[in-house]
Amino acid sequence: MWIAFRVVALILLAATAPRWWHSLRGLPHALIHRHWSAIFDRVLGLVLVLFLAMQVVPFGWRHSNPPVVAEPAWDSPQTRELFVRACADCHSNETKWLWFTNIAPGSWLVANDVYGGRNEMNVSEWVTNNSQNAKRAREAGEVVRDGSMPPLQFLLIHPEARLTDAEKADLAKGLEASLAK
Ligand code: HEC
Repeated sequence: MWIAFRVVALILLAATAPRWWHSLRGLPHALIHRHWSAIFDRVLGLVLVLFLAMQVVPFGWRHSNPPVVAEPAWDSPQTRELFVRACADCHSNETKWLWFTNIAPGSWLVANDVYGGRNEMNVSEWVTNNSQNAKRAREAGEVVRDGSMPPLQFLLIHPEARLTDAEKADLAKGLEASLAK
């Protein structure tokens, strides 16, 4: 379905190309003479064209959720639940790709966060007894307590990921216990 959206964007872009090219060339003239309505029309056209062009860039199209290989030995179901609520979209292979993750530039930002997050720490491909795990566990506790994870842009869109102070304390403690192994 989203591929159809991108094809339509490409067709609209191609079909209107002569028109927006013409309109863009009129922009300097409109600016010099302060023709506000002409400036407004042209800037609006430019924004639309950029929006269409962004949909055709292939980055962020693929929404991969590779298989879950192994999870950490969670110290309690509650720790896992809190992690799923606040962290799993970017630190597991079970990302919920919401509809807007198909529309650029949102799709670019989300793909960047998800692939960056998985790369940093992925609870779906957990390696027990990894020498890094103790450090990982400490860091995870820290970022939950100091509020740097989940990132602000995620909280704006996912109110359910906002944790109370008590939940933060529980999650931090749970992660320290679960990820160290
Ligand atoms: C919107 C995606 C996203 C969410 C949600 C998210 N993270 Fe991250 N996380 C990232 C990205 C991207 C990085 C790597 C770059 C960075 O540090 O900002 C990262 C880095 C980390 C690191 C490495 C330490 C560091 O500061 O670089 C830890 C630990 C971590 N996250 C834990 C968590 C925990 C615990 C949660 C849930 C409370 C969480 N993250 C939620 C995207 C996310």
